[in-house]
Amino acid sequence: LADGWSLMQGATTNGVDGILGECGGSCACATCHVHVDDAWIERVGLPEEGSMESDLIQFAEGTTETSRLACQIPMVPELDGLVLHLPELQH
Ligand code: FES
Repeated sequence: LADGWSLMQGATTNGVDGILGECGGSCACATCHVHVDDAWIERVGLPEEGSMESDLIQFAEGTTETSRLACQIPMVPELDGLVLHLPELQH
């Protein structure tokens, strides 16, 4: 997959069920909500405090401590093999 893409773009392009990306990656819809696997959260990092992402996550359903919005996670080689879990509900 191409560098410079977000995980949301990668997932929707590859037809991953459960990642919708309705707003096209502008951090406005939260339908790209994912739970990052515990083993990966350090490498992925948490949303920056006060960022649009952390604001929006508060409105997503079923969030956990490792919730991220996939459109805000860049696809970089270091994250190759990243394990994500999908929330039960995606709106
Ligand atoms: Fe809409 Fe990520 S795609 S918030």
